[in-house]
Amino acid sequence: MHVKKEPLMKQTTAYTHLAKWFEYLNDDCGYENWSQYLIEKLKSFPLAVGLDVGCGGGWFTRAFQRQGYAMTGLDVSPEMLGFAQETALKEGVRGEYILGDIARTKLPRRFDFATAINDCVNYIPKDKLVSAFKNVRGALKKDGIFLFDISSARKFQEKIANTVSVDDRDDVTYFSFNRAEEDGVIMEVSLFVKRSDGAFERLDETHRQYLYTEEEILAALETSGFTLLEAEGHLGEDKGAADRLTFLCQRKG
Ligand SMILES: C[S@@+](CC[C@H](N)C(=O)[O-])C[C@H]1O[C@@H](n2cnc3c(N)ncnc32)[C@H](O)[C@@H]1O
Repeated sequence: MHVKKEPLMKQTTAYTHLAKWFEYLNDDCGYENWSQYLIEKLKSFPLAVGLDVGCGGGWFTRAFQRQGYAMTGLDVSPEMLGFAQETALKEGVRGEYILGDIARTKLPRRFDFATAINDCVNYIPKDKLVSAFKNVRGALKKDGIFLFDISSARKFQEKIANTVSVDDRDDVTYFSFNRAEEDGVIMEVSLFVKRSDGAFERLDETHRQYLYTEEEILAALETSGFTLLEAEGHLGEDKGAADRLTFLCQRKG
C-alpha cells in the first residue's frame, strides 16, 4: 500500500519534539539487557572514564555511570541533551553533558573509552563518517576502546525502507513514514501528543539515516586509526540475521 503523507506543520530537525518521548517510546528495545551486554564488553578492559556519543536522553550514559564509569554524554540535539540532564538530576546520577556534533566538536579531554549506541552512527552523513571516527580517536587515550553499533543493511532494506512504523499509546501516537533513498532513508515522523484538555497536538520532524555496510564501517575505522577487535550481531546474534551490528575497536597507538 502506498501511503501519502502531507506535512501540515512546519517540519523540524530530528530529535526536537521526539526528545521528550524517545526513551518512553523506545522502552521495548530492552535497554536493561542491552546495557548489561555492553558493560560486559567494557569490563574486559581497565577503563574508568567514558564518552557516550549520541547519548540522546542518556539511558546508556546513566547505566554506565551506575556501573562506576565517569561519563560524559555528547549529543547534537539540544532537546535530547536537555532531557538527559534533567533525568540525570532526577535520578541522582551525576554526569557531564556536552552539546556537539561528533564530526566537528573538539572534546575537552581524553577518555579511556567511547560508545555510540542505538543508531547514532546511522545519523552521520557518508562524507562525515571518517571525520567523526577520527574525532572519536582523537578524544581517546592510548589504546582507548570504541564500542558502537549500526542498524544493519538488511534491516534497512527489509524492515525500514518504504515502510510506516506506528506506536499507538493512550498519551501519544507515533508515526514514521520511511522513504528509501539511494544511501539510506528519510523518516517523516509525526507525533500526536494528548494535551490536558484531551485534544491531540500534532508535532512533525524529519530524520535522515544512512545505510552503512559492514565493509564501509571497517574501511572507515581503518582509515581513522582503529583496530577492529570484534564485530557481531546485536547481543551476540549471528551477524547475517541481525538487525544491528556491534563493533568493538581499539585506538591504534
Ligand atoms: C536513536 S538516538 C539514540 C540515543 C541514545 N543513545 C539511546 O539509545 O537512548 C540517536 C542519537 O544520536 C544523536 N546524533 C545524531 N547525529 C549525531 C552527531 N553527529 N553527533 C552527536 N550526536 C548525534 C541524535 O541527536 C540522537 O540523540
